[in-house]
Amino acid sequence: MNVIVCKDKQEVAKKAYELLKDVVANKPNAVLGLATGSSPIGLYGEMIADYKAGNLSYKNVISFNLDEYVGIDKNHPESYSSFMHKELFDHIDIQEDNTHLPFGDTQADCDAYEAAMSDVSIDLQVLGIGRNGHIGFNEPGTSFDSLTHIVDLDEKTIEDNARFFDNDANLVPKKAISMGIATIMKSKRILLIATGENKAEAVAAMVNGPVTESMPASILQKHADVTVFVDEAAAANLK
Ligand code: F6R
Repeated sequence: MNVIVCKDKQEVAKKAYELLKDVVANKPNAVLGLATGSSPIGLYGEMIADYKAGNLSYKNVISFNLDEYVGIDKNHPESYSSFMHKELFDHIDIQEDNTHLPFGDTQADCDAYEAAMSDVSIDLQVLGIGRNGHIGFNEPGTSFDSLTHIVDLDEKTIEDNARFFDNDANLVPKKAISMGIATIMKSKRILLIATGENKAEAVAAMVNGPVTESMPASILQKHADVTVFVDEAAAANLK
């Protein structure tokens, strides 16, 4: 695991973009795994700015998102589909047909998403990390062998995401459909972004702690090509 400590989240975004740009410049039809949440917003901003400057095209890029809430309308402002359009897809030349988000609540929906990814294989997976160490919506206790599956969101996650739902935890969906941990581990390269002091504990456990299903991100120690971009606050507990 290659850990790069940056002075602030702006530098995290710039450095993470250098890696992503390299992948897409070398393979214009690269397959990107994408995340939602606060962590990748700076990276998406860099992608948009450089696209607008005419430096990189996403015309042939294919994307697969990590997760989506169960039971939310795709057009709901807080659906991950809406998030991706607002924060990235509507501002670059990626083709709508080349973008994929998991959707549904049945095993068949999960299997179909997993099969679509197996057909192509992800070149670069972008990840954030939850305060409890989740990656995707794979909460503590999720099997390292899991593929795309339906998950019950952890109380901490519901609490953290209430900020997007009028600060009311009751309005946060309680289930999600998520790539599994084994799905994430199949990606050729992984880029993880973590900023802010509330991520410091999870980052330290991911990097230096035991590899255990109670800290899902710790599995990344076993992946051959992971780059972690953290700001100084998120790096505070690293030895
Ligand atoms: C998002 C996702 C989650 C987030 C994590 C961190 O698609 O799968 O694992 O990356 O919850 O969220 P933020 O970035 O909002 O702190």
